[in-house]
Amino acid sequence: MTLPKTVRIVEVGPRDGLQNQSKLVATEVKVELIQRLCDSGIKHIEVGAFVSPKWIPLMADSAEIISQLNFKDGIIYSALTPNTKGMKAALKSGVNEVAIFIAASEAFSQKNTNCSIEEAIERAVPVIKLAQEAGIQVRAYISCVMSCPYEGDNINPNAVSELCARLVDLGCYEVSLGDTIGRGTPFKTERLIKACLSKVDAQQIAVHFHNTYGQALANILTAMRLGISTIDSSVAGLGGCPYAKGATGNVATEDVLYMLQGFGIETGTDMDKLVDTAIYITDKINIPMASNTARAIANKRT
Ligand code: HMG
Ligand code: MG
Repeated sequence: MTLPKTVRIVEVGPRDGLQNQSKLVATEVKVELIQRLCDSGIKHIEVGAFVSPKWIPLMADSAEIISQLNFKDGIIYSALTPNTKGMKAALKSGVNEVAIFIAASEAFSQKNTNCSIEEAIERAVPVIKLAQEAGIQVRAYISCVMSCPYEGDNINPNAVSELCARLVDLGCYEVSLGDTIGRGTPFKTERLIKACLSKVDAQQIAVHFHNTYGQALANILTAMRLGISTIDSSVAGLGGCPYAKGATGNVATEDVLYMLQGFGIETGTDMDKLVDTAIYITDKINIPMASNTARAIANKRT
């Protein structure tokens, strides 16, 4: 079996994981969560989102959080930026990467960003230009790459691959393929990744699986076998999307790490510290632990 020798984990818990919580989370808890993730060896963290606070109240304190972080060399601190207003705020905050997000389905694009797919791309153009002028990299997300909560399961993989190629052409260094509602299976993942690989390189693709139907690890392994080596995940399996009702969190970072360790793939992440971080955040915000690995290790300790 051919698998990548190294894998980059993109930790999205502080953003994707917290954006959908039913109660506000204290700024100091978010800051502590991010510092703990850095201490556990995570090298790429999405720390917030410069989106409308009316749309996503849980991300309203992103600038405040970032101002309280002790930035460490070698770590990417990223934030979502849907438009130039968000981009300008992101640049002011000091993040060293930004991410734009568009959808593969028109209905989700409207619900999530109040615009069509084409309009979202038009909005992204000046965002990318501002980032280039500031010398920081732009990541892109495509949501609903396999299923949409409003349009169903027939998202066309070729249309996703076209979008992927357009985003790379516009200057995004990487496109993260988001299975927003976690309905994708390994069969559909293989079809999608192969379609995207016909247009862009494996190094330009990341995978972002929500684990609603328990398929995320199988989907990740399918993608890895096709050469994908960047995986988005969320500590403790936190998360969901406010505009995708019923969707659960991202695949848990601890579960991904456990699988990678089983293959001898190095990520530089300390499992014990990561599990401590998962316990910290689930205790603080009083939600169940969604990571099997964190639960198993915590049980073994007692
Ligand atoms: P809009 O209402 O069309 O925007 O929202 P607008 O330009 O008409 O402005 C309306 C108001 O919002 C104005 O304020 C603006 O100043 C303000 P008002 O005059 O009414 O007081 N505004 C902003 N405020 C702060 N930051 C900004 C900003 N922009 C406008 N950047 C908009 C359009 C895109 C802003 C809105 O729809 C929005 O914020 N959407 C964000 C949705 C979101 O964050 N969803 C979750 C993240 S995506 C996701 O989870 C999927 C992913 O994980 C991958 C996957 O799983 O598939 C990435
Ligand atoms: Mg997501």
